[in-house]
Amino acid sequence: MYICICNALKDKDLVAAASGDTRSVADVFRRCGRRPQCGKCLPEVAEMIDSARDLANGPQTIAAE
Ligand code: FES
Repeated sequence: MYICICNALKDKDLVAAASGDTRSVADVFRRCGRRPQCGKCLPEVAEMIDSARDLANGPQTIAAE
């Protein structure tokens, strides 16, 4: 499914780019070789980064909350 219409980026592309040491939405777009344009997708990309970070931290984060 396309998340970023402006750059024709699909959810799988963005999830892959959001994993690892990605810290910002700009990092995700940089990894995809693109730049944000209209900005409509940015909140969803930010959520992907948070989800990837939660997965990487595992259950310790959930237990601490
Ligand atoms: S939909 Fe992603 S920048 Fe426009």
